[in-house]
Amino acid sequence: MTTASAPGKIILFGEHAVVYGRPALAVPVTQVHADVEILGSDSTGVLIHAPGINLHADLNTLPSDHPVASVIHNFLFISRISRAERSRSDSEGAVEARGEGKFPNLQINITSTIPVASGLGSGAAVTVALLRALSSYLNYPMTEEEVNAFAYDIEKLHHGTPSGIDNTVVTYAKPVYFIKGQPIETFKVGTPFTIVIADTGISAPTKESVADVRKLWEADKMKWEGVFDEVGEIARAAKEKIETGDWRLLGELMNRNHALLQEMTVSSPELDALVEAARKAGATGAKLSGGGRGGNMIALAEAEKADDISSALMSAGAKNTIVTQVS
Ligand code: MEV
Repeated sequence: MTTASAPGKIILFGEHAVVYGRPALAVPVTQVHADVEILGSDSTGVLIHAPGINLHADLNTLPSDHPVASVIHNFLFISRISRAERSRSDSEGAVEARGEGKFPNLQINITSTIPVASGLGSGAAVTVALLRALSSYLNYPMTEEEVNAFAYDIEKLHHGTPSGIDNTVVTYAKPVYFIKGQPIETFKVGTPFTIVIADTGISAPTKESVADVRKLWEADKMKWEGVFDEVGEIARAAKEKIETGDWRLLGELMNRNHALLQEMTVSSPELDALVEAARKAGATGAKLSGGGRGGNMIALAEAEKADDISSALMSAGAKNTIVTQVS
């Protein structure tokens, strides 16, 4: 039996603008995670059990573009290509060390505590955990770079034009200052700070909000490039404040970032209500996080106020909150 896991993620600054090359900041959220277990099976084929999404199926019965099926098919494809390439140049022994010839009978159990379509990176976490489990069970070692690149290809398949921030944070499980297409850059946290994450309970596919922002951008590129520049400046300033430990000023940056996300039409009445409730309860700043229209928001909190803010968020309609320290 093999098990593998991957954490959730939360974007602190810069979502949506990051798709257009501006920087964004995101951190892993280890309180939630996707876990995959692979076992040998007596039945023929690959059986997938993912009770959280009510999936109990044979791989062959799933459409090839199903999120889980596509990871398994693509994994098989790359491991076989690599094996064939090696068999042309390597000895038989080296070939065997890089994956099985025939896909064995398997049972794959997938569980996740990351709510789906909520801005916490659930899709990327399932992909990364599944990939790591397959790679280990089938003896096809992959580097973190290979896992990240593979997960990005899967994100593209399902999310249209993703920036790659989700798969990057989930794969490396580190705070990331992310610029699309550039090598991974992490950031230091001068003084640890607390954020409260609150879930509206509304699933909102990132693909749709990203596509809607693209329509706005296509209709008036000059205007939206200007808005994305402003978001990029906020993310740059936030990185500096986090690194120098000047986190109190981050709240103001969060508020400005939320206003720009509202302008992009990716907020919602429920997100705005939670943002407002957090500010009233003493949060230094608050904003939606991720694709928007539903999913999660974040509030920056002095540690001693985090519980009060969390209660205020629940009273204002949040379905769940997570208090986490960025350190
Ligand atoms: C989704 O977590 C973040 C977005 O910026 C989309 C992306 O970067 O791919 C909305």
